[in-house]
Amino acid sequence: MTSPNTDYLKNQQYSDSSRLQARARLHANYNRNPYNWFKWMFDLYDLPPDAKVLEVGAGAGWLWMQNADRIPNGWDITLSDFSSGMLAEQRQNTSQIPHSFQFQEIDVQAIPYPEQSFDGVIANHMLYHVPDRAKGIRELRRVLKPSGKLYTATNGDQHLQELHQLMTRLKIKKESYLGGFTTVHAYTLENATNQLKAVFEHVELHRYDDAINLTEAQPLIDYIHSFPVELDAEHEQDAKAFIEGEIQKHGAFKITKDTGVLIAY
Ligand SMILES: C[S@@+](CC[C@H](N)C(=O)[O-])C[C@H]1O[C@@H](n2cnc3c(N)ncnc32)[C@H](O)[C@@H]1O
Repeated sequence: MTSPNTDYLKNQQYSDSSRLQARARLHANYNRNPYNWFKWMFDLYDLPPDAKVLEVGAGAGWLWMQNADRIPNGWDITLSDFSSGMLAEQRQNTSQIPHSFQFQEIDVQAIPYPEQSFDGVIANHMLYHVPDRAKGIRELRRVLKPSGKLYTATNGDQHLQELHQLMTRLKIKKESYLGGFTTVHAYTLENATNQLKAVFEHVELHRYDDAINLTEAQPLIDYIHSFPVELDAEHEQDAKAFIEGEIQKHGAFKITKDTGVLIAY
């Protein structure tokens, strides 16, 4: 299944990782939790030493770059994405890692592997984009061995709520600034368990404890620009003034983060 969002996501938002990088910078530089998110996720992966692993919607391959020094030698890893630009970046970014990877262009709604191919499947911050998510989740279960595990990261309802409040102050509607992202609330830490339970018997939820303490306005402005919104000069000025006012008053503009991983098996 495709949707009007699919073209936008594949050919604009994720044609390469530049927009994703603008958002990652906000997290990387102002997070309260000093323990890296990708390392925290990797700690959860409980897979055999000779595991066959598939990552769908792997983006630029950051998970593997951040854990390059501890990838088990015996893992047979396939990285994938439905964007050819992201696949090119995965190849480039993982070329320095002393482990070999396979790469494949895959839409999670139709995974081109036989049943029971993998011990572990990873789907981080991507299922909320998928038009026929129920089919995507069935596909993930189908390619997992009966003993296999799905690791899927997503956000909670409160994630970045201060950003959304700021956009409301600026009178910019969610539909206009989120564009292809309006579906993010369809798969959250609150509602993903029920969706996964359609095909998995057990689902465990692990939350990552974090928040953003922003001490300058620009990273949040760059974050907003990574969405399809046309933030005109006047709105940008208003946003900056508000954020800087909060920083002056409180020492930092505090932004709620709510993100985590569901393990399904
Ligand atoms: C927010 S990014 C997350 C990237 C990566 N998993 C990470 O955590 O850094 C979402 C990724 O999912 C990919 N994607 C979106 N819809 C997809 C689909 N239907 N099938 C496969 N990949 C998809 C996008 O191209 C993008 O690379």
